[in-house]
Amino acid sequence: MTLPREEETAAAEALRLDGVGFDAATDAGALTILDDIGLAIKPGERVAVLGPSGSGKSTLMMLMAGLERPTRGRVCVGGESLDGLSEDEMAVFRRGRVGIVFQAFHLIPTLSALDNVAVPLDLAGVADSRARAAEVLAAVGLSRRLGHLPSKLSGGEQQRVALARALAPRPGLLLADEPTGNLDHDSGEAVAELMLSACGADGATLVLITHDEALAARCGRIVRLRDGRVESDTGRAA
Ligand SMILES: Nc1ncnc2c1ncn2[C@@H]1O[C@H](COP(=O)(O)OP(=O)(O)OP(=O)(O)O)[C@@H](O)[C@H]1O
Ligand SMILES: [Mg+2]
Repeated sequence: MTLPREEETAAAEALRLDGVGFDAATDAGALTILDDIGLAIKPGERVAVLGPSGSGKSTLMMLMAGLERPTRGRVCVGGESLDGLSEDEMAVFRRGRVGIVFQAFHLIPTLSALDNVAVPLDLAGVADSRARAAEVLAAVGLSRRLGHLPSKLSGGEQQRVALARALAPRPGLLLADEPTGNLDHDSGEAVAELMLSACGADGATLVLITHDEALAARCGRIVRLRDGRVESDTGRAA
């Protein structure tokens, strides 16, 4: 897939993938999960990623986050290649800059909702971390659940804590994997509004994996994956 010349555009891009592929090792040998992915996303763009179950959406997000390394190709975030970074350097690079909402939440089970949200703020050196954490949890409708452990929260509540944790440091890049997948219509609507407006207000870039066509349409740009490849990419920023 051909993209504009890198040196002309890299600095102006929030996220760039060039010829990215990912193979997983299985008992039956290497299995290609993603292949030849080329995407250039500008700062402030809101991109929905759609595709059938198993098409590679979550794997793509892990590569964008630097949590998996591509088998082929290169991933750049904010003009910086993730290629040469060690895992520790990658973690420091992500801190305060990249917010991630995992499909399976990945909350810390021994910490309250409030502390789950406060931890990345502490790591980013935010002084009033607990006040900020409480504010964002209130924004996702959880002000009465601050002291709850994840095991005492419903699936949708855990999903909202995960979103609050990702949004609280006001990251420049928000990667969210089906963040409304476990929510009823009204909570899903509230969470979608929060994500889209957080990105609008802070000028953050959003990559939103979803099965919800109506939500995808609100993002402006829609990337469709099929069998690990980009099937279509519409509504790109000029
Ligand atoms: N480490 C791995 N080893 C083997 N297979 C893997 C691995 N990671 C992902 N896969 C396979 O890659 C494919 C894509 O998985 P992925 O989780 O990215 O799909 P998805 O599009 O997010 O699906 P869903 O909509 O169900 O969440 C699946 O068929 C999955 O079984
Ligand atoms: Mg997935």
